[in-house]
Amino acid sequence: MSEDNEKNKEISSGATNDAGSHDYFVNSTYKKNLQTMLLEKECLEKSRRFGISRRHFLTTSFGAVAATSIFGQIAAFSSKAEAMDGFVSPSEDLYMSVAETTRFTRLDQSTAEDWAIIENAVRAQSVGVVDTIKNMINACRGYHLGFGPDQFTHVTQTATRARRDNASDEMILVCLVHDLGKVISNLAHADIIAGMVRPYVSDGSFYLLRHHMEYQWKHYGLYVMRPTNGRARYVGQPWHANAVRFSDEYDQKAFDPYYRTDPIESFLPLVEQFFGTAQPRKNLTHQLCIG
Ligand SMILES: [Fe+2]
Ligand SMILES: [Fe+2]
Repeated sequence: MSEDNEKNKEISSGATNDAGSHDYFVNSTYKKNLQTMLLEKECLEKSRRFGISRRHFLTTSFGAVAATSIFGQIAAFSSKAEAMDGFVSPSEDLYMSVAETTRFTRLDQSTAEDWAIIENAVRAQSVGVVDTIKNMINACRGYHLGFGPDQFTHVTQTATRARRDNASDEMILVCLVHDLGKVISNLAHADIIAGMVRPYVSDGSFYLLRHHMEYQWKHYGLYVMRPTNGRARYVGQPWHANAVRFSDEYDQKAFDPYYRTDPIESFLPLVEQFFGTAQPRKNLTHQLCIG
C-alpha cells in the first residue's frame, strides 16, 4: 500500500492542488438555487438590513440558514437536496417566519410555542453544517502554521492517500476533516473537530479524531516534549488499529508538495453524504439540549 502510494508520487506543477477555485462553495448547485431564491424582494431587503451585499450574505452561515428557514420546510425533508426538490415559492408569511424569535427573558418563563420557534431554527441550522465544513476546508487554503504545504493541501493529501489505499468512505472523510479545527484553535483542534462531527460519524471515528495527536507524537514527540508512546494507552480499543493506520500511513505522510493530491471537488460528494442532512446518524443526548 505504501509502495503504491509512493508510485503515485510524481513531480507536479502544483496546479492539481488548486484545481477548481475558491468559489466552489458559492458555485455549487445548492448555492445557485439559493441565489435564485434570494432574488426575491424580501431577501434582498434582509441582506440590506444587515448592511452587506447579497453575495456576501449568501456566503455566511447565517445567509444559508436564513434562506432555508424562509420556506419553513426543512423539518419535512431528510436532506438539503430533497428540500430543494420540494421547494415552493416563498410567501410573505413564510418569510416573516425567518425573523420570528422568542421574547422570553428567562428560560424558566419560556413556553411550548417558544421552543417550537427555536426548534425550527435549529433544524434549519443543522442543514447548514455541510456548508460550515466546506467553509472550514476553504479556510485552510494558504494557512501553513509553519508547515511547508498549507493545511488545505495537507488534509486533501491525507484523504487522497486513504482513498488510494482503498480505505472506507468514513476513513477518507475523517482524513479530510481531521485538522479543520485548526482554523479556530491549533491547540484545541482535535477536540473541536471531533465534537463537530460526532453526530455524523461512528464512535470509533470520533475517538480517532479526538486522540489523533497522541498517535502522531510517535513521529515527532521527541521534539515537542511529548511522549512518543502516547498511543499506548489506547491499545485494545476497537478503533486503535484504524487510528494507527490513519496516523502512520495517511496523516504523517501528507506533507509532500510533490504528491499528486486529488482536487477537493472529488471529495465534496462525501462531505455532502455525511453532513448534508438534517438528521444526523446519532441523536446524542446533548443534542437534545438545544438551549
Ligand atoms: Fe492534527
Ligand atoms: Fe494532520
